[in-house]
Amino acid sequence: MDKNCLRKNIFWIGYVDWDIRDFHGYVTERGSSYNAYLIKDEKIAIIDSVKAPYVDSLMKNIAEHTDFDAVDYLVCNHAEPDHSGSLPLLVKKCVNAVVVCNKKCQNILSMQYNTDGWKFEIVDESTKISLGKRTLTFVNTPMAHWPESMFTYIPEETLLFSMDAFGQHYSTSERFDDTAVLREAMIEAKTYYANIIMLYGGQVAKVMSKAAGLDISMIAPSHGIIWRSHITEILAAYTKWMSHTPEAEVLIFYDTMWKSTAMMADAIYRGANIEGVSVKKYDLKHTNITVIADATLSAAALAVGSPTLNKGIMPKAAEALAYLKGLSPEGKTAVAFGSYGWAKKGGQHDVQEILESMKCKMLSDDPIQAQFTPTEAVLEECFEAGKKLAAAAVEAIK
Ligand code: FEO
Repeated sequence: MDKNCLRKNIFWIGYVDWDIRDFHGYVTERGSSYNAYLIKDEKIAIIDSVKAPYVDSLMKNIAEHTDFDAVDYLVCNHAEPDHSGSLPLLVKKCVNAVVVCNKKCQNILSMQYNTDGWKFEIVDESTKISLGKRTLTFVNTPMAHWPESMFTYIPEETLLFSMDAFGQHYSTSERFDDTAVLREAMIEAKTYYANIIMLYGGQVAKVMSKAAGLDISMIAPSHGIIWRSHITEILAAYTKWMSHTPEAEVLIFYDTMWKSTAMMADAIYRGANIEGVSVKKYDLKHTNITVIADATLSAAALAVGSPTLNKGIMPKAAEALAYLKGLSPEGKTAVAFGSYGWAKKGGQHDVQEILESMKCKMLSDDPIQAQFTPTEAVLEECFEAGKKLAAAAVEAIK
């Protein structure tokens, strides 16, 4: 059986991007893939495309299955360039094809590409496009990931093309959840959710309730592996992530200048590291924001530290907090900490303010501060804060 065959005459025609390590700031240690699909029936449809630099690979994959002028439909579920980047060339090659998308998607495509002369078929949730034995139907999924995002669903195959939802930045020679390494795929699905979808959890919940009404035996996302044997697991994981259900985890992350803030982080770690609680401690000099976002998604409690630099936060701590604030994690207990030299109202208070603006439940109204090297009394205060964060983490999972 062709490795790229989803069902009889339905094929993966995408591109596996082994080398990408930066996806608009998201560090993709395991690479990614841009999944496109081809359905061969009495009519021929292509679902999504690939990033523009990989258009030649896409064309080659299409040519293995059909002549370009035999393609009837180019479905665009999502206009972001990792999926639409090859569309202008596809439109040029597939001279008889119409672009199938919703009205918002048409507008966004026209602001990204010169769509003059493109033939469009604008669809909504009542549209049915018959390919012969199969029908294309559509589910609008606004903000999962952009306003125009939609799913394409084939009822006869109980097959859902879910674009970004349920995807993973994960490169593998395998196509399916039961041929790839499931543990790796689930780890990457969580990282993907934390970094791409977390902000839109509410909208994704609505998407999920729509998807729940569909009979689904295969979910083909636009990144990573295709779900067919572990659909229950990925749906359950999304349900947990969407509801911001925490684990008994404490996350400590900080930057440090002369090790004083690192000493405080160590003391918090010792206090938090009790039976039943998992503690992660990251020096931001060595840890990227993608890992921080991933760990934040499941953490019940956060400790965030920065020394004062120029009356403010150290750059790496500021970067991590700006990124996290944008992702809108919910329901965290938190503490701010760090050392200063002479500007007492500096960096630690800024960290405190940002955590408060993220609606974290703060352990106290003020950060824990050390002037220059932390005294034993300050380290004891950090240790006690760690204990309180651990207690909050235990409480959060009851
Ligand atoms: Fe994979 Fe939102 O694009």
